[in-house]
Amino acid sequence: MDFALTEEQKMVQEMVRRFAENEIAPVADELDRSERFPADTLRKMAELGLMSMLVPAEAGGTGMGAVAYALALMEIGRACMSHAVTTSVTNMVCEGIYRFGTPRQHARYIPRIASGEYPAGAFALTEPGAGSDAGSLRATAERDGDHYVLNGTKVFITSGTHAGVVMVAAKTDRDAGKAGISVFLVERGTPGMKVSRKEEKLGQRASDTVELVFEDCRVPADSLLGNEGDGFKIMLSSLDGGRIGIASNSCGLGRAALEAATTYAKDRRQFGRPIAALQAIQCKLADMDTQLEAARLLTLRAAHKKERGRPYTQEASMAKVYATEMCQRLAREAIQIHGGYGYVREYPVERYLRDAMAVTLYEGTSEIQRLVISRNLLA
Ligand code: CAA
Repeated sequence: MDFALTEEQKMVQEMVRRFAENEIAPVADELDRSERFPADTLRKMAELGLMSMLVPAEAGGTGMGAVAYALALMEIGRACMSHAVTTSVTNMVCEGIYRFGTPRQHARYIPRIASGEYPAGAFALTEPGAGSDAGSLRATAERDGDHYVLNGTKVFITSGTHAGVVMVAAKTDRDAGKAGISVFLVERGTPGMKVSRKEEKLGQRASDTVELVFEDCRVPADSLLGNEGDGFKIMLSSLDGGRIGIASNSCGLGRAALEAATTYAKDRRQFGRPIAALQAIQCKLADMDTQLEAARLLTLRAAHKKERGRPYTQEASMAKVYATEMCQRLAREAIQIHGGYGYVREYPVERYLRDAMAVTLYEGTSEIQRLVISRNLLA
């Protein structure tokens, strides 16, 4: 067993940490208040190679691998969860196109995502009536000559306004259940695809979360990703990787909460000494650090298995459920350590808790992760 990072992985970690501290963290609070999509920093991140990390260099990505990807997202999540979720979804889409796409689709989309020409990619699975039960989706795609015609509504779509390309799941065979689902690559500006609502959220407010409506949206037949009927598996296996991304983001947020709590505990004086000298606070910090490390190890283990080409569905769900719930606990404890100051905007920890509330919901709720884990256990 080797827990050491390679020199390349350390370099990626260091490079992203520097970028996140210098360029992302300073704007995170303002972005949260203004709910402004961070197009400028995302473009710079693409220039650093951070939007195509899971795609090999020969296919137009930066091929840094799943472990380096997890390390990078930990640094981004530590600075700003809006940047982190936008980056992780974009990488999931870029990798999905690489894994399932044709050479034409590779050539058309991967360079645009990798270079930042597209500010983001988006992943449209969820519908008003199909959340955890994603297989019950109702959007349709009917073949019409050289085209498919898409109809339906997708909700909670990250970066739906800005994405250059959206992976959209729709039924090509209404009678075939989950085996009738297919995936299409729909480009921004395609007539018939429109943003019908922008969500106002509790946290991660600079990430764009929208409802997308498809009304007789015609896409060329070669927009199909993979084969007809493979769509459910394409979306679920993409989400396996996505869940490592969300676990990594959550480790970053947990780290930010722990650092804020530690700094505050050393500065804040009560009973004639810093509160860090009180055992009650020391125990809290020790528990936070231990849980963070456990989440980090679970996440890196899942990433390591993925990088090795081994099955990792179970490990990704374990990492996701543990890391996301961990960061909620740490954000809450960070507020508790700050006392009343934790509840006001002067300190960042109230934002951390608001941001943390999303991660147990998207890319599969905690309940769905436990379902995946127990199914594997009992199979
Ligand atoms: N990878 C590949 N294939 C998979 C798979 C995986 N991880 N999990 C299941 N499958 C396959 C199964 O093997 C099965 O194939 P066969 O029919 O050939 O045997 C097929 O898919 C159907 O499997 P199930 O019957 O087990 O599927 P299910 O309906 O019971 O669903 C589920 C399983 C785990 C509950 C799944 O629906 C799920 O993960 N739900 C949560 C959806 C989710 O995470 N949504 C988030 C959307 S994205 C988002 O949050 C917003 C954003 O912007 C990113």
